[in-house]
Amino acid sequence: MKKIISLGIESTAHTFGVGIIDNSGKIYANVKKQYTAETKGEGIRPYDASVFHFQNAIDVLKQALSESNLTIDDINVISFARSPGLGPCLSVGATFARSLSLKYNKPIVGVNHCVAHLEIGKTLMKAKDPLFIYTSGANTQIIAKDNKRYKILGETLDIGLGNLFDSFARDLGFGFPGGPILDKMYFQSNNYILLPYSVKGMDIVFSGLLTSSRKLIGKVKTEDLVYSFMHTAYAMVLEVCERALSYTNKKEIMVIGGVAASKALKEMLESFSKQRNIKLFIPPVSVCLDNGAMIADLGLKHFIYDKKQKMKDTVINPEERTDQIIINW
Ligand code: ATP
Ligand code: FE2
Repeated sequence: MKKIISLGIESTAHTFGVGIIDNSGKIYANVKKQYTAETKGEGIRPYDASVFHFQNAIDVLKQALSESNLTIDDINVISFARSPGLGPCLSVGATFARSLSLKYNKPIVGVNHCVAHLEIGKTLMKAKDPLFIYTSGANTQIIAKDNKRYKILGETLDIGLGNLFDSFARDLGFGFPGGPILDKMYFQSNNYILLPYSVKGMDIVFSGLLTSSRKLIGKVKTEDLVYSFMHTAYAMVLEVCERALSYTNKKEIMVIGGVAASKALKEMLESFSKQRNIKLFIPPVSVCLDNGAMIADLGLKHFIYDKKQKMKDTVINPEERTDQIIINW
């Protein structure tokens, strides 16, 4: 197999990343810097994040090339995340990728960030066709490939699991991010307190669980409350997975997004998958979070299997949906 090396640029939201990967799945470097100044309740300011990306782009690129022991001449294709995301942030990545492509006369590929999250898991874990649990701060979605497209089969109707955990942890007086703190505490109890459980068809609602759990703070043992809170939230996600598995007939599950680091989720999923004879894949957290290697990976696949993109095809698209992308591999 002829080696093809892709350099990927991620800049959709808070992270500016450059990753380098080849068509055997070998990652040569995966460097990133994260913009952290958030305004309370509002999330990140897109313009400020884009300035951060602009200021850090060259350094991150240089560091990635130096860690990989490669030069720009060794790179066969420049990939970047052109969708979805914050307009000003996407523009920095697109402009940077175009400049590199023009200056060094390399092919360029714009890719969808959400599809990249799914595909890097498949590349690294050698999974064939899993049902995905994509769970980060803002997102919680159950996704499966159907007819060359990734379809969202079920999702949260209010907040994502990560933000749910962070909010509740804040109410309990813990630091940010609260997810990892609750995740440790989960194992200090197995005394289940009944809490609201809300699955609507294939979708999930977390706000009832959050409101009721808040009211119990100080009235029951914190360890019991945290255990029950997380257990209920994850059980809702697993109920949707169960239905999605029987609907799609998939035999594998893969977890991606920041919450994939959760040991509690891993424990529940291990027993869930064992009972149903499903193969479980949980990739390393470094590739579950926003990073450049996943963009490089998806760019490489488009480069190998699709019509080559021209410069005019590389416009950003902040609103593009996961199911708009055709998967030809
Ligand atoms: P999005 O990509 O949806 O905008 P984000 O970038 O904030 O959100 P990620 O970086 O993918 O999301 O994930 C961060 C979230 O993961 C945080 O909310 C954090 O609390 C949660 N998290 C991290 N580690 C754990 C853990 N061990 N258990 C539970 N949650 C965790
Ligand atoms: Fe992401």
